[in-house]
Amino acid sequence: MNMKGLIAAGGQGTRLGELTRVTNKHMLPVADLPMIYYPLQTLSLGGISKIMIVTGKDHAGDFVNLLGSGKIDKRFYETDQDRNLFELDLTYKVQTKPQGLAQVVGMAQDFVSDGEKFAFILGDNIVENSLDQYFKEFEALPMGSAMVFFSEVTDPERFGVPRFNQNDEVVEIIEKPGKLNPGPPPSNYAQIGVYLFDSTVFDLVQRSKPSQRGEYEITDLINPYIAKKSLHHRFIKGWWQDVGTIQSLSNVGQLIAKTGANNQPN
Ligand code: G1P
Repeated sequence: MNMKGLIAAGGQGTRLGELTRVTNKHMLPVADLPMIYYPLQTLSLGGISKIMIVTGKDHAGDFVNLLGSGKIDKRFYETDQDRNLFELDLTYKVQTKPQGLAQVVGMAQDFVSDGEKFAFILGDNIVENSLDQYFKEFEALPMGSAMVFFSEVTDPERFGVPRFNQNDEVVEIIEKPGKLNPGPPPSNYAQIGVYLFDSTVFDLVQRSKPSQRGEYEITDLINPYIAKKSLHHRFIKGWWQDVGTIQSLSNVGQLIAKTGANNQPN
């Protein structure tokens, strides 16, 4: 796998109240691991080892303390065989003024060379099943393609929501319908926080403009691929959680206890 990885791990995590007073949300425990381990595992199981983590300046040092250069042995292990947790090659970049996910993508421009592909994942997104089969499919697609993933939700207004036409093709993705954009959600699906791009996305970043909330929106990088018929989408199997609230933090712990996360197909 030649793809690289990019993780967005900034933000104040204010919806987590007292839990994020002195630490970054992505350090919080989820089941038996710090939250950031899950997206790292999603990338690493997909065969991606060169990963850039973007975070704010207040906690950048914590990420380096926790993850170092990316080679991590388990703290308790029985044999040499189960010793290795991650063998990654990590790079860090500090986002001094957080202005949205499209800005984070732009920060990877020097990290992703011309002609290379990468998986962008939000540091608080956790999936039940590994995505490696999709990473492989994306590797085989021509340059200039992008891939997004949908999951059915009961509260689509919180997310980027696809509109489908009668042939079940995606015609548009609307960011936070009813909140950031007018109108009801056009479907009950959310685009999850995993996006597969290649270096052609950086031209779109240059051209993007801040939304009403003053952020460079990820959706503005995705819609142009629909217009040129090069956006691919997949409906993920199993659960997906965006862990931003106390409720979702407790839910995801229970889900992981029941099913595990990043499960590999049998
Ligand atoms: C972001 C994206 C949104 C996506 C969501 C998934 O929203 O803007 O399109 O559906 O992540 O977690 P955020 O929750 O960061 O505002």
